[in-house]
Amino acid sequence: MLFFSTLGLIVYSLRLVHADCFEPSPAFPLPLWQNGMQQLEAAFQRIDQRLEKLAEDQQYDTSSFSVGVTSNTDTLWTHFHSARVHNATRPGVTHIDGDSQYRIASISKTFTVLGILHQHAAGNLSLDEPVSLYIDELKHAHSGDMPWNDITIRVLASQLSGIPRDVIQADLINGETDPTELGLPPVSKEGLPRCYEYGGLKPCNRTDLLHALKTHHPIFAPNAISTYSNTAFELLGLVLENVIGLDYDVYMQHAIFGPLNMTLTSLSTPPDDHAVLPVDQTYWDVDQGVHKPTGGIYSSLDDMSKYLRYVMTHYNALATGVNWLLPASWSTGMESFYGMPWEIFRTDRILEKSKRPVTFVTKAGGVPSYFSRISIMPEYGLGLTVLIAGSNTLLKEIQEIVTVELVREAEAVIWKDVQKTYSGNYVSTNTSLNSSIELAARPSTGLVLQSFISNGTDVFQTLLQQYAEALDVKRWHAQLVPTLLYKNEAEQKGEIWRLLVVAERTGEGAVWDEFCNTDVDPISYAGLPVNEFVFWHEEQRLELPAWRVSMKRSTADTAERLVVQV
Ligand SMILES: *[C@@H]1O[C@H](CO)[C@@H](O)[C@H](O)[C@H]1NC(C)=O
Ligand SMILES: *[C@@H]1O[C@H](CO)[C@@H](O)[C@H](O)[C@H]1NC(C)=O
Ligand SMILES: *[C@@H]1O[C@H](CO)[C@@H](O)[C@H](O)[C@H]1NC(C)=O
Ligand SMILES: *[C@@H]1O[C@H](CO)[C@@H](O)[C@H](O)[C@H]1NC(C)=O
Ligand SMILES: *[C@@H]1O[C@H](CO)[C@@H](O)[C@H](O)[C@H]1NC(C)=O
Ligand SMILES: *[C@@H]1O[C@H](CO)[C@@H](O)[C@H](O)[C@H]1NC(C)=O
Ligand SMILES: *[C@@H]1O[C@H](CO)[C@@H](O)[C@H](O)[C@H]1NC(C)=O
Repeated sequence: MLFFSTLGLIVYSLRLVHADCFEPSPAFPLPLWQNGMQQLEAAFQRIDQRLEKLAEDQQYDTSSFSVGVTSNTDTLWTHFHSARVHNATRPGVTHIDGDSQYRIASISKTFTVLGILHQHAAGNLSLDEPVSLYIDELKHAHSGDMPWNDITIRVLASQLSGIPRDVIQADLINGETDPTELGLPPVSKEGLPRCYEYGGLKPCNRTDLLHALKTHHPIFAPNAISTYSNTAFELLGLVLENVIGLDYDVYMQHAIFGPLNMTLTSLSTPPDDHAVLPVDQTYWDVDQGVHKPTGGIYSSLDDMSKYLRYVMTHYNALATGVNWLLPASWSTGMESFYGMPWEIFRTDRILEKSKRPVTFVTKAGGVPSYFSRISIMPEYGLGLTVLIAGSNTLLKEIQEIVTVELVREAEAVIWKDVQKTYSGNYVSTNTSLNSSIELAARPSTGLVLQSFISNGTDVFQTLLQQYAEALDVKRWHAQLVPTLLYKNEAEQKGEIWRLLVVAERTGEGAVWDEFCNTDVDPISYAGLPVNEFVFWHEEQRLELPAWRVSMKRSTADTAERLVVQV
């Protein structure tokens, strides 16, 4: 009884701060999609059919698109659609493949930030210094009323600068429609910038941008509220040029496109050989000038897959203290966040058997006739590229079809795999000890303990029950969650998981039910974490360090008996 009251005391403090944490994530180790085409083939077949059907619509006669899914190591699947109608005088490519080039527009911002992260890591700049340290013109009092000394590089990259979205672009006075037809009053262009991306004006340069900025005012205070800004990335391009002493184009080629072997990626307009040119496109040749770091890159599906693989394998190793895929602020609503400069979506509506949230770290791009999005699904080790030339309504349709089919199929494959690899009966290697564990995997609850006997004691009735009571959790399961670490990191052996008492939804629906402070390391025993479980797969052995016990996985009978419908 002393033991129980001690536990009660230890976890008592948790009771005050802990609310229910329903579906821990990640729930499984990073999947290896070595022969992903076969593993995910069912989904890819369905996606191919649905995309073909979608493209049949007459409204897409002049649209082309390239879509591809990559793992951390290989392209798993691609789908190409060539427009049925081309421009007779300037058709561009009429058969789309992995080398066909599009304008990727604002996806360029991720390349600019990657350059910034490389320079931060090299010590050439600091993410947390103000931008005015790197752009002389912003140092002086006469540089307008923007609080440049409080606007850091990190804040610019995170859409948190509060500076205007555009200072030269997106001005209706330069539009094709007469502003008075929109109900706007006639005004003079006197004093406005004499540069623009198109309309026969010269592209804007550094001088134009910094000059125009002086006449603008902040939208929000720095580091307070996020809002989309193109200007932020134009400034980051200038910062890069200043710290490296190279033109942005030259630096990108030298530091990123070249090393990643992105042979069909550039900032200058490529020849028409690989160009996807919709019938009435007007934007392929546009020189964005100083706006290039915010939207100037041309690329192909194959190159973007190379880029995604690089990001997916380096995001937490680019610079000390930076995990590139994490959010920096919330956007509007509960499911959207800004990263640096990622657009992050986290939804609990994509899985069929669980409300476990799935995260998509994305960046979209759009200029006239070119629409695109890259998406990283970090838990699944999958990356998606969608490049469109033509209709913008295709982007949302393709994104929905591919991500929903893909994630649901990946879930099915993963839980079958977890079931095969982990489930079954584990019995103490010391036969004079009555200790055993039974594991099963289900898409609804993840990898769970069915039973846990330690030296003749049913741990579900003792420690786990006490813990659930201390957390004030009524319905629960005992779930194992991976830490993604190994006892032997060098050889990736001895996979470390933690056992959690996971609350199940009761349907009571109190407002604060969804509040969760993740805590996977609640109590220890004699200095060792009591919920640490280590899988040594080669030996089919499960080690519980705090319990001083190792258990051997028994024959496949149990695994078969426990097979679950996915
Ligand atoms: C930008 O263009 C203007 C003319 O429009 C020119 O006076 C200025 O020198 C240019 N600045 C740079 C940095 O090239
Ligand atoms: C740091 O900046 C210097 C120029 O200021 C440049 O020569 C060097 O290549 C930069 N370092 C990296 C890693 O790019
Ligand atoms: C670079 O990519 C091209 C195709 O885009 C390929 O033929 C070549 O082998 C690649 N080079 C390296 C070093 O990977
Ligand atoms: C076809 O391309 C030419 C040259 O780029 C352009 O002038 C023309 O407007 C385009 N045709 C259509 C129907 O958009
Ligand atoms: C096996 O367990 C028994 C009972 O707890 C114990 O006495 C014995 O030392 C253990 N043997 C080994 C090899 O750990
Ligand atoms: C098993 O439990 C008995 C008491 O029931 C205890 O004496 C013994 O030390 C325990 N052994 C282990 C290895 O837990
Ligand atoms: C092991 O312990 C459990 C739980 O106390 C008990 O139900 C079971 O009969 C024991 N098995 C053996 C072989 O003693």
